Amino acid sequence: MKKLFAAFVFAALPALTFAAGGHDVHLDKVDIDLTDKAAMQDGARTFANYCMGCHSAKFQRYERVGKDLGIPEDLMLKNLVLTGAKIGDHMKIGMQPQDAKVWFGAAPPDLTLVARVRGTDWLYSYLRSFYEDPARPWGVNNKVFPNVGMPNVLVNLQGRQVIGCKQVQVVEGGKKQFDPLTGAPITHEACDQLTVVPKTGKLTEAEFDEKIQNLVTFLAYSANPVKLESQRIGTFVLLYLAFFFVFAYLLKREYWKDVH
Ligand code: HEC
Repeated sequence: MKKLFAAFVFAALPALTFAAGGHDVHLDKVDIDLTDKAAMQDGARTFANYCMGCHSAKFQRYERVGKDLGIPEDLMLKNLVLTGAKIGDHMKIGMQPQDAKVWFGAAPPDLTLVARVRGTDWLYSYLRSFYEDPARPWGVNNKVFPNVGMPNVLVNLQGRQVIGCKQVQVVEGGKKQFDPLTGAPITHEACDQLTVVPKTGKLTEAEFDEKIQNLVTFLAYSANPVKLESQRIGTFVLLYLAFFFVFAYLLKREYWKDVH
């Protein structure tokens, strides 16, 4: 019961999870466009190929995803259903949570609703923040989720990312600081800076960021597949009300005409 309550609070108030998380790491902002079907299709492909080895999206059906994202059934089966499931099945995986716990120290959670729980900025930052750390079991750590049990599954796309010291510009009150005399940026040395080792990944930094943006867009869609539909219905409701108002007003005038 207590667990259920906690799950409810976390689902309802994404902001609270940050407070409870206890570390205020900087998060990169990401624009999510839930009308961009091409982005969501790319995200769905990445999800099926790189994430569903360990994570399910069990509240979602392949068929629904295909319909919402405009992917025909044959392409869906060929490129996205990699577990031998049928088109009408939920997006489940074969890995057992108890095995996963032994292998990774923590079971990979279901990701259907993760965008609601963590927020899209958190996901975007997390997936781009793995770095090499020989002290960890998989040789990687994560700046946004320290000591995470997940390996860096996208390393072949992003390349090897390392943490180290770099000169970075001082920011105060959200503004980058410049020397008032010379106009040169004021910098300080920060030792938690991530850099990708050149030529170790298939994608450039910009391409990789876009891949992750697409993946997070898919996860945002998955956490709220009816959002687009409710927005559309909401527009009709408002139009209807505006239309109805005109007639209600004319009727009122008609009724009151004889009273004066
Ligand atoms: C090899 C298995 C594996 C693969 C593949 C994998 N993950 Fe994970 N993931 C894990 C494990 C294990 C955890 C739990 C880590 C922990 O709690 O320490 C995790 C945790 C996460 C979390 C944090 C969830 C939370 O709220 O605590 C997110 C988000 C996530 N994974 C996203 C992804 C995405 C997106 C992909 C595909 C690009 C992916 N994972 C691929 C094993 C995997």
